[in-house]
Amino acid sequence: MIKNILVTGGAGYIGSHVIVKLHEKGYNPIIIDDFSNSDKSVLDGLKKITGKEFKLYEGDILDQNLLNQVFTEFNIDGVIHFAAKKAVGESVEKPLLYYKNNVSGLVSLLESMTKNGVTSLVFSSSCTVYGQPDKLPVTEESPKQPANSPYGNTKQIGEEIIEDLVNSNTPLTAIALRYFNPVGAHPSAEIGELPLGIPNNLVPFITQTGAGLRDHLTVYGNDYETSDGTCIRDYIHVMDLADAHVSALSCLEEQSGNSHFDVINVGTGKGNTVLEVIKSFEKVSESNLNYQIGSRRPGDIEKIYAQVDKSQKVLRWETQHSLDEALRDAWNWQKKLSNI
Ligand code: NAD
Ligand code: UD1
Repeated sequence: MIKNILVTGGAGYIGSHVIVKLHEKGYNPIIIDDFSNSDKSVLDGLKKITGKEFKLYEGDILDQNLLNQVFTEFNIDGVIHFAAKKAVGESVEKPLLYYKNNVSGLVSLLESMTKNGVTSLVFSSSCTVYGQPDKLPVTEESPKQPANSPYGNTKQIGEEIIEDLVNSNTPLTAIALRYFNPVGAHPSAEIGELPLGIPNNLVPFITQTGAGLRDHLTVYGNDYETSDGTCIRDYIHVMDLADAHVSALSCLEEQSGNSHFDVINVGTGKGNTVLEVIKSFEKVSESNLNYQIGSRRPGDIEKIYAQVDKSQKVLRWETQHSLDEALRDAWNWQKKLSNI
């Protein structure tokens, strides 16, 4: 029987790619999104890729009536929870907005799931919970560091809320996926990342600079203790990340009936410097990127990349796409957006 999966934030960057994968694997995704950080054009992209119009509830996950309506209208087998605000800087300026949306939003969702007997959850967490780890690659057992922003704190609190609920008598099986740095787009270039305003993240800034929307990229520091002095991250293709969610759902299905909570790193296991990402972009775009070395960005982590043993073992999943493919797909998406 086809399984109905509720995807909160399903119109967003990661959510939209997961919708495609769910459809490919024979699930029926149902979207809730308030379009606070996405555009309805994503629905056209999804239709072009899949040929399907997905059921969409336009609204806020804080709206219990809306959630209860969804759970009443559909027999929901599992929930993937993306809906959250994610701009680190904004969270420092407006902490209550972040605690309300990300923490109260999660509580609202869990209340409605509990009320309606829905017991499987995949939660979007982040490698930000590790801060700068003492040892690399970072494992799931690495201690969490105090969050350096309200945004980061909402991910730590979110994991704790879910764990507390699992440890209560409430039937719930949940997996928190700690994403490293998602990049790239669907290879068709029909969906991708749509940053509002000036991007904070590296890859959209690179592709916008390549497209002439930004004059130059500033590399935030080249005096770190890394091979070329620039910071190291674990960049994962968004299609690989999307696959990990489908694997997580299969895991939850196998565990269903047992209250259980697990956290799993989702990365490639490989770190790349900022200059390596720029080189990859220059290779796939066959162009030179205009960049300058600037000062360090306050609060930046020097280096982090995932240990992937647990994701390989528990999710029976591993990444398929290279950094070059991610940059190629991000660039194709940018070219489409910019009519190049
Ligand atoms: P995104 O902003 O593109 O997608 C989030 C979607 O949720 C948007 O479509 C937005 O309109 C919607 N939304 C937000 N608040 C809502 C609410 N209260 N009710 C209904 N819809 C709401 O972000 P993304 O990059 O796709 O990230 C998805 C999740 O993954 C988030 O929880 C984010 O914190 C987490 N995450 C993202 C990254 C990253 O680098 N992109 C890294 C680690 C974790
Ligand atoms: C960001 C988020 C973090 C989130 C993570 C995963 C911030 C401060 N942090 O961090 O909470 O968990 O993404 O998605 O936003 N860089 C430049 N020039 C630029 C932009 C970035 O040199 O114009 C460098 C940064 O210094 C960093 C790397 O590129 O070394 C990646 O930066 P970014 O894409 O912002 O991701 P994170 O720093 O990992």
